Amino acid sequence: DETLKIRASLLGWYDLNKRDLPWRTPTTTTTHEDEEDEDAHEDQDNRAYAVWVSEVMLQQTRVETVIDYYNRWMQKWPTLHHLSLASLEEVNEMWAGLGYYRRARFLLEGAKMISEGKCGFPSTTSALREVPGIGNYTAGAIASIAFKEAVPVVDGNVVRVIARLKAISSNPKHSSTIKNIWRLAGQLVDPCKPGDFNQALMELGATICTPLNPICSACPVSDECSALSMSESHRSILVTDY
Ligand code: ADE
Repeated sequence: DETLKIRASLLGWYDLNKRDLPWRTPTTTTTHEDEEDEDAHEDQDNRAYAVWVSEVMLQQTRVETVIDYYNRWMQKWPTLHHLSLASLEEVNEMWAGLGYYRRARFLLEGAKMISEGKCGFPSTTSALREVPGIGNYTAGAIASIAFKEAVPVVDGNVVRVIARLKAISSNPKHSSTIKNIWRLAGQLVDPCKPGDFNQALMELGATICTPLNPICSACPVSDECSALSMSESHRSILVTDY
């Protein structure tokens, strides 16, 4: 049905068009034959840490700017453990220019909390929500991208994509609208590849389903788009308001 078509089209498009970003490159690992399980967990925790750092940076800053900050951060603190030993001054210095310094402090506090816990990186949305500074968005991103939990991730781009896909004309600033969009995103998310699916939606909104002049001719889900099937006058509200 429609949901299955959307998943297949979006994932196919993402495989071909996804940007090669540093946090999408799995870290290289050495496997010791007698420690395979431990290594697998370590890889997953490192991946969660990379997703966490990148997503917090991406909440306030464009991708092109984040790349340099992310690489410098990872050079200085390659793992959560390294970060947990940093000082607030060092973290703020590294963050300089990104703004919203509270987010950097939350990363440091979170790293200390998770390190002290000795249980590894929290791997479910509910456990992630216990970490200071991790809200719905960041919890969904880490859980789906690093741990394959089939949960949605909704940022401003995803609000717009889903509003158009499902022709939602209610005010996107209202919490009831946002709630509805999280619910719809939860129904759409691909249970086998939730991380790719969520990133595909965000990337579609950033590159194709843009606020003004969306490039519908290049959209992988144009056949399933309710806004595109509407008359020009009805559609205009969905194209300008989101
Ligand atoms: N914007 C914020 N996070 C993103 C991600 N993981 N992929 C694409 N765009 C994003």
